[in-house]
Amino acid sequence: MYMFLFFMIWVEVGGYLDGFIDHQFTVDDVIRKDLKLNLDIAVAMPCKYVNANVRDSTQDRILAAEKLNFEGISDQVPEWYFQTKKKVYTPQLEDVLANSVEARFFTEGQHINVEMPFCRIFGTIPINRVQGEFHITAKGYAYPDRTMAPEASFNFTHFISEFSFGDFFPYLDNPLDMTYKVTDEKRHSYHYKLDIIPTMYKKLGLEIDTTQYAMSMFETTERYMPGIFFRYDFDPIKMIVAERRLSFWHFFVKLVTIIGGIWIMTKWIYRGIEKLILLAFGKEFARRGEEKKKGGLLDSDEFEKI
Ligand SMILES: *[C@@H]1O[C@H](CO)[C@@H](O)[C@H](O)[C@H]1NC(C)=O
Repeated sequence: MYMFLFFMIWVEVGGYLDGFIDHQFTVDDVIRKDLKLNLDIAVAMPCKYVNANVRDSTQDRILAAEKLNFEGISDQVPEWYFQTKKKVYTPQLEDVLANSVEARFFTEGQHINVEMPFCRIFGTIPINRVQGEFHITAKGYAYPDRTMAPEASFNFTHFISEFSFGDFFPYLDNPLDMTYKVTDEKRHSYHYKLDIIPTMYKKLGLEIDTTQYAMSMFETTERYMPGIFFRYDFDPIKMIVAERRLSFWHFFVKLVTIIGGIWIMTKWIYRGIEKLILLAFGKEFARRGEEKKKGGLLDSDEFEKI
C-alpha cells in the first residue's frame, strides 16, 4: 500500500508540475486585415513560362510576381524527398514552441536562371484576410502576357517545401510542407482547398499567434485550365492551445482524496482476502499466528476507526 501510495503521489506531483494542455475555441475577435502567405514550391517548368498570382474577393489583384522569387534550378528533387515518408500530424504545443523560430526570405522579386528546367518559386506575399486563391499557371493562360508558354513545356509536377499563412516559422510543420505531385499529363491541374484556422499557442507568458489549416485536394486532366490552384478561406473560429496548471489548493484536495481512496480500498481488499481465506480454509487456519500480528498497521481494531 505504501508503495502504491508513493507511486500515486509521485505521478500526481509530476502532473501538477508539468501542467496540462488546454484547447479552447473562441470566436476570432481580432480584426486583422492582412496576413502573410509563405511558400516555397518547385515546379517542373522553366521560370520563363511560369506565372504566379493571388486573386481574392476584394478584387485587388496582388501582383505576387513582384514579391515572389522565381529561381531556375536543375531538375533535382528537394532534399526532403529522400527522407522517410512524411506523417501528417497536428503539432503539439511543445513542438510549436521549440520550432517557432521566425524567419524571412532575404530576396524579393528576383527572377534568375529562367531557362533552367525547374522553377523554384519562393517568398512571402501579403494577402487580404478574405477568401482567395493563389495559383501557378503557364504564362499567357490566366492573364494576358507577351510570352505564351508552348504547350510542350507544360508540366505541373511540383514539390512543396513550405506553404503557410501568418508569420513565417520555417520549422513548423504544415500539412502541405514536404509533399509533392507528379504528373505525366501536360494539361493537368491540381486544386487544393485550404481551411485556415487562426491558432494561438501559449505557455509561460509566451504567445505565438499563427494559423493551422486543413487541406483537401483533387486533380484532373483537360477539364480545367492547367495549373496549380490553392483556394483558401478563413475560419471565424480561433483556437487557443495553452498550458495550464491546477491551483495549489485544487491540487492539494485532489491528492488528499486519492490518499483517502487508496486507504479505504486497501481495507476492502484486506477484508476480501480475509473472507476468502475463511471460506477456503476455515476459521482455525485464518486465526493462526494472530497473536504475532497484533498491533500491525492493518489490524482490524485500528482500521475500524478510520
Ligand atoms: C514532368 O516532370 C517529371 C519529373 O521530371 C516527370 O516525371 C514527368 O513525366 C513530367 N511530365 C510531363 C507531362 O512531361
